[in-house]
This record gives sequence, C-alpha cells and structure tokens, in this order.
Amino acid sequence: MRLDAFLSHAGLGTRNEVKHLIRKGKVTVDGAVCRQSPAQVSRDQTITCHGEPVMVPPAVLHCLLHKPLGYACSRSAEEGPLVFDLLPELWRRVVDPAGRLDRATSGLLLLTTDGGLIHRLINPKKKLPKRYRIGYRGMLADNAVARCAEGLLLDDDERPTVPAELTLHERADDLNRATLVLTEGRYHQVRRMIAALGGDVMELHRDRIGQLDLPADLAPGECREASPEELAALGKAE
Ligand code: URA
Repeated sequence: MRLDAFLSHAGLGTRNEVKHLIRKGKVTVDGAVCRQSPAQVSRDQTITCHGEPVMVPPAVLHCLLHKPLGYACSRSAEEGPLVFDLLPELWRRVVDPAGRLDRATSGLLLLTTDGGLIHRLINPKKKLPKRYRIGYRGMLADNAVARCAEGLLLDDDERPTVPAELTLHERADDLNRATLVLTEGRYHQVRRMIAALGGDVMELHRDRIGQLDLPADLAPGECREASPEELAALGKAE
C-alpha cells in the first residue's frame, strides 16, 4: 500500500493532509524519515508520525456486539449515542453492521468488514433466521400464530411479510411474552407485526442469528471478535 494511503487509512487525515505531513518529514518508516507519498509500505513495518507509532485497523474483522438499549445503528453523530461508540477506536471506521436494531432494541449485532457476509446475513433470499424475544401489552388476535406463518400485509408495504414463526409464552410478569423468528428485516418489522396483530411492543431483544445465540460472555455494551465457530454458526461458509 502507498504510504499516504496507509496513513489516511489509519485515520491521520485526508490524502492531501497526510501528503503534507510526509513532505514535512514527520513520518518515518522502519526508523528512517520517508518524504515519498507513493513509497510502498506494509503492515509489518514500523511507521511513525510525529514520533508516535501509527496503528492501522485490521483489514478483516468480524465483531459481535451485545447492543444495549439506547444506542443507534447509525453513523450520524446527531443520532448518538451510536453502536460505533462501543467499539475500539481502530475498529469503528472499518466495520458496518449486518442490518440494524432500533434504538429501543437490544441484543446480538454483527459488525464486519465483509460486505459479502453482510449481504448473506440480511438478504431475505438466504432465509437466515433471526430470533426476537418480545414483551408486549394488549391481546394478540386469536389467529396470530397462523397469520405470521402465512405472512402479514403491513401498512405502507406492498408485499406481505415472508412466513415467520410466532410462539406465544405464558405471561411471567407484567408483560405478555412471545418469540418471533424472522428471515427478513423490514423497518421496525417486529413492532409493526405485533401492532398489526393487536399488541404493543414494550421490550424487544434479539438473542439469536442463524445458529448463533448471543454469547453469554457478552454483557450489554460489550463487543469482541467472533470466533471461527461463531462465524460458522452465522452461516459464513454458506
Ligand atoms: N424489528 C423491530 O421492530 N426492531 C428491531 O430492532 C428489529 C426488528
């Protein structure tokens, strides 16, 4: 990679800004000042700027986040706090979330550098199941389970939802409880489906994507790299 591209990738500024730093002799490669922006460098070399080592984000990164309530899946600072705020600084710019969870939804979110993987996780044609645990108020229609299995036509949508598996649970606290497994991800889909069936979602948590359960070691707000086994459970190889 060119030295100016490397520095820019590391977040030291735009291509023009880093070229200026290089010309001024602020950058060293393996201990020697380098004033050539096109010089080829690699990750194994020691590169400094203003005497500080330059850290570059990993080229490939798959990260699991336990998204807490109150965080937006967005890059827009006005919408903060953002899920990116929960990631190490070096990871923030290089990963994108595989789909979105609403600000008021918690649970498992994959963020990755791999656009192909994102596509496989969110493309409804791949039919990858995502499981949502729901706490709701109100009474759902008697035929709610069958209607989800058939597909529901939601307001503002042209097509019915694809078949989804709704399971109703015993009420254990002040909310009614249900689980919904979806293989697509439309805007506010769970909330809109439950509303169409007569309920009002008060709590929403995603605890499984594909064969991968939200890892027990990830407390709300925590993230870490996904293991090869976890990626396989997400269907990465398919
Ligand atoms: N459905 C919703 O309504 N919200 C989410 O965050 C995910 C699915």
